[in-house]
Amino acid sequence: MVEPPSGPLQRPLPDGTVPERVVVRTEERWLAIMVAMLVTMMLIMVLASFIGALHPASNVEVIDSRTLHLKGEFVESNLGTALEPDGSATVRLIAQQYDFVPRCVVIPAQVPVRFRLTSDDVIHGFLLPDTNINTMVVPGFVAEVRTRFSRPGDYVMPCHEYCGLGHQAMWARVRVVPWEQFAHRGLLERTSCAAQ
Ligand code: CUA
Repeated sequence: MVEPPSGPLQRPLPDGTVPERVVVRTEERWLAIMVAMLVTMMLIMVLASFIGALHPASNVEVIDSRTLHLKGEFVESNLGTALEPDGSATVRLIAQQYDFVPRCVVIPAQVPVRFRLTSDDVIHGFLLPDTNINTMVVPGFVAEVRTRFSRPGDYVMPCHEYCGLGHQAMWARVRVVPWEQFAHRGLLERTSCAAQ
């Protein structure tokens, strides 16, 4: 017959008690799983931002939202698409409850495009699905995002930041046209899609 162990550490544990080494091993496994999940999520974030060319704002630019319509870059006559001397395009828009001004902009395809937006009331969102464009438009600041449209087509431009009761109706459009078509448009036709 086997002698029962005599020291307190050798005695069998009461029924239902999990031995310490099992507890430690289980804790370590869960810790490893959690660390692996964190690392995987960080990698997904980094990869997604590289693949989608997403990046935080590179500069902070302030503007007086009370005088937007009176003077400076965002007066009405300066809104819409403007061509730069280097052949790129700059699009200026104002987001306001509950519209983008202008409601539709025409942009040439295959040139670098810079969007500059600001708000004259509350925080709005600016998103172009299927592009790298996704930013908040905060009153008092100018949001700037850059992209290039490879193909002509129509893009919807929803406000995706809750801005009040009319938020869900705040939509605008971007119409990307071939370069030759854009060049032949008059100034007014470039700032809206009114003339088709
Ligand atoms: Cu503007 Cu929601």
